[in-house]
Amino acid sequence: MSRATAYAHTNIALVKYWGKRDDGGRALNLPAVGSLSLTLDRFGTETTVELAPEGRQDVLVLDGVERPGAEVARVSAFLDLVRQQAGRQLYARVTSRNDVPTAAGLASSASAFCALAAAATAAFGLRVEGGRLSILARRGSGSAARSVYGGFVLLQRGSRDDGEDCFAEPIASSLDARLVVVRCGSGPKDVGSTSGMGHSQRTSPYFPAWVETHARDLSDGHAAVVAGDLPRLGEVMEHSTLKMHATTFSARPPFFYWTPTTLAALQEVKALRGRGTGAWATMDAGPHVKVLCAPADANAVAAALGTVPGVLGVDIAAPGPGARVLETHA
Ligand code: PMV
Repeated sequence: MSRATAYAHTNIALVKYWGKRDDGGRALNLPAVGSLSLTLDRFGTETTVELAPEGRQDVLVLDGVERPGAEVARVSAFLDLVRQQAGRQLYARVTSRNDVPTAAGLASSASAFCALAAAATAAFGLRVEGGRLSILARRGSGSAARSVYGGFVLLQRGSRDDGEDCFAEPIASSLDARLVVVRCGSGPKDVGSTSGMGHSQRTSPYFPAWVETHARDLSDGHAAVVAGDLPRLGEVMEHSTLKMHATTFSARPPFFYWTPTTLAALQEVKALRGRGTGAWATMDAGPHVKVLCAPADANAVAAALGTVPGVLGVDIAAPGPGARVLETHA
């Protein structure tokens, strides 16, 4: 194949990944902790990779705009991995369309690198699926490893130095849930996830406690998904995100992904619970709040969050499918 198009949905971590394992500079992108996520039916990335036999460099066109060298560099470094696996040194034209506000903390890197992994391997004629696709996507972005699968997904931390045991797996569960995505700010984020987690890891005295207490959260979250226990999952989810953000507040210098609207939304989630509605919040490397709730409560939760001053918009997302190759051309 010389051209392939793939689509990957974004996913939101319910038990977070934050921090990296030392890989001796091999760019394996190994997480310090595992994670548990929900792949959404909304928000995602469609990417076409076309091999360019005459090309002299990779080209990236994102949302209709050709991107400069710095932005292409991360994509090129990723394509190098695929070129290595294929044993072919062809450059590529990558055309990508995000249904997610790029770099605003709505996890665009998850869907972006997962779609790129699926499209690039297909364009090079490689059959890379399941755990192998997850391992490859992880090299682009930790969260991308999880978008390979739909629904609830577990990403093991793994212990091997080569990262071969660090891949995502779907969790069999009958649990249905909704994630209400509450937009609490606009524009690109100030601190990207990679630099944010690195700075937390290097300077926050809470980081070791984050790692030490993480395995328990992951097994609790996993057990809650398997048992279909939404309140238990929601409670551990909030605990995980607040611990993650505590490592940013306690970094030196400190940094905050939250805006006043983030905090107001969190207070509304607590108020909803006080009124008897099961709703729990999580936040990533950006200001937005995502609220986990039962399908029957989603409209009420969205309506309540939509009235919080400063909230820019509210979307209800359901569990969505894993990444897929849409078309290939020889
Ligand atoms: O995949 P990255 O490098 O963009 O990092 C993701 C970090 C968080 O979104 C904050 C947590 C997670 O597990 O997705």
